[in-house]
Amino acid sequence: MILVTGGAGFIGANFVLDWIATEGAPVVNLDKLTYAGNLENLASLKDDARHCFVKGDINDRTLIAQLLSTHQPRAIVHFAAESHVDRSISGPGEFVQTNVVGTFSLLEEARAYWSALAAPAKAQFRFLHVSTDEVYGSLGPDDPAFSETTPYAPNSPYAASKAASDHLVRAYHHTYGVPTITTNCSNNYGPLQFPEKLIPLMIFNALHGKPLPVYGDGLNVRDWLYVGDHCAGIRAALRRGRPGETYNIGGNSEKNNLDVVNTLCAVMDELRPDTAPHAKLIQFVTDRPGHDRRYAIDAEKIRWELGWAPAENFAAGLRKTVRWYLDHPQWTENINSGAYRAWLDLNYGSR
Ligand code: NAD
Ligand code: TYD
Repeated sequence: MILVTGGAGFIGANFVLDWIATEGAPVVNLDKLTYAGNLENLASLKDDARHCFVKGDINDRTLIAQLLSTHQPRAIVHFAAESHVDRSISGPGEFVQTNVVGTFSLLEEARAYWSALAAPAKAQFRFLHVSTDEVYGSLGPDDPAFSETTPYAPNSPYAASKAASDHLVRAYHHTYGVPTITTNCSNNYGPLQFPEKLIPLMIFNALHGKPLPVYGDGLNVRDWLYVGDHCAGIRAALRRGRPGETYNIGGNSEKNNLDVVNTLCAVMDELRPDTAPHAKLIQFVTDRPGHDRRYAIDAEKIRWELGWAPAENFAAGLRKTVRWYLDHPQWTENINSGAYRAWLDLNYGSR
């Protein structure tokens, strides 16, 4: 049994599905079901006794204590967070509440639970904290990629809240001995991603003949990690990672945003020739305040220490992703309800 937080979101849901398919072991999935949580992501597990869904907040310490004592998990895999940079700019409070205070609440309860475990279970227990490369700040064009020893320099409220949570996790290992592992990954893409992030938003808009809003000059660079590769990386870190360590997880696929959007439009042209060319929908819009220029990940440590490397290349991963969204129009339509529409007006209305 493992306890997953945020398992109804994009990466969490992919992880729960992947975990049950590969490990076959049960999961307790604690998720508050914010705008980003979607139980439809887990519809295939509806009648599967190995998946126990609990709607709740990581800040509810009574609930967490009760879940830990009832289910006696051998690990906590912590995904729950507010995750979108643009939302952190318009409303940072929730990011502090969930990402910082929520992680603290979870750590406190994990510490109490772990301290009381008997010897073998205590040695095997892991608290795996899923974090981001954005904690390291922004790179210049010729700077070396982020490694685990790169100093933290978060620039957005989102990145700052994740950096704070990483520091708490580190301190709980250093001070109390809690067997924590932190993973810092690059931009994920793949099925089930809420259409507020670059790739699913562009697919959604291209499908509906809407403008494709590229921030600034479109030359900001991100490293793209296929979500299935990320899940495999987390499994490797859980199985073989050393307590107290951090591991960077990257896709080895640095691209600027304009390249990503143009490649995506070319795939759409092929799969939906009736509405081609989709690149005509590209529109440059006002830049994001404090927009980080470049992220890049050096994933050598997890490769040599844990034997993990990304299997997907960007062209194939993107094609698979576009296909998934085209094959699941109802999934996106169901999301395109009140909260998401309101966000589109708030974020893009004045750009
Ligand atoms: P997401 O926004 O799709 O999902 C977050 C999930 O957490 C949702 O299901 C939401 O309901 C849940 N949640 C939010 N607040 C909660 C609370 N207080 N209590 C319980 N559940 C709560 O996020 P994601 O993209 O799946 O990201 C998962 C994790 O990975 C996050 O910690 C994020 O910082 C990290 N990460 C994401 C990316 C990326 O590209 N998406 C990259 C690097 C790191
Ligand atoms: P995003 O998916 O929000 O991830 P992050 O900000 O965490 O990297 O954005 C990825 C890149 O795409 C980032 O440089 C901002 C840019 N972007 C756009 O140009 N247009 C958009 O509508 C969005 C959502 C992002």
